[in-house]
Amino acid sequence: MNLKYPHLFEPIQINSLRFPNRIEIAPMGNGVPEICEEFGQSGASLMTLGSWQIDDEWSQLMGYPDPFVKPKGQQVHGLEGAKMLRQQMLALQRYGMYASVELIHAGRYAHNFPKDSGKEGHAIGAITETYLHKKGLTIHVQGMDEDMIQHVADNYAKAAVNFKNFGFDMIMLHFAHG
Ligand SMILES: Cc1cc2nc3c(=O)[nH]c(=O)nc-3n(C[C@H](O)[C@H](O)[C@H](O)COP(=O)(O)O)c2cc1C
Repeated sequence: MNLKYPHLFEPIQINSLRFPNRIEIAPMGNGVPEICEEFGQSGASLMTLGSWQIDDEWSQLMGYPDPFVKPKGQQVHGLEGAKMLRQQMLALQRYGMYASVELIHAGRYAHNFPKDSGKEGHAIGAITETYLHKKGLTIHVQGMDEDMIQHVADNYAKAAVNFKNFGFDMIMLHFAHG
């Protein structure tokens, strides 16, 4: 058979991990344990659970339940979040897949909407800017200085260690939103 990607179904060793093939299921949000039960039986080598915030500060992607409250953790130290995450991770590993988790600092999209500010929201991101959110809200982004960038980098490192100790086989770092 003339395959475009002839090594796709061949095993590969990466550091201490041996993958039976080169198929990974890309991150698709936080998922639910039932979905991991299904993907666990897919035959893929690896699945990455998407968009877990690196800290309880300004990292979470927009969409937290109450837009008037500063984002709270789906972090590993939040008990409900941790239970859900563990179920997903174990479901994948039970079927022999490797489980990876994506760590995110959502930058300009990690905005809040303080109650007293009407339609104005605030975020901390790569550059100072103001942009119009698709729901008609104005978001003011404060550009990080070097100390803040270092702080975010440190939080990425701490989160990576936490998630590794939690039992994940791999970590994916998400840098798309500044
Ligand atoms: C419903 C959905 C949720 C997604 N969630 C994430 C996510 O949490 N993190 C991420 O990096 N990418 C996310 N993506 C992007 C996918 O991982 C993937 O990169 C994108 O869908 C392109 O791959 P495809 O052409 O195979 O669909 C999401 C995509 C979809 C469709």
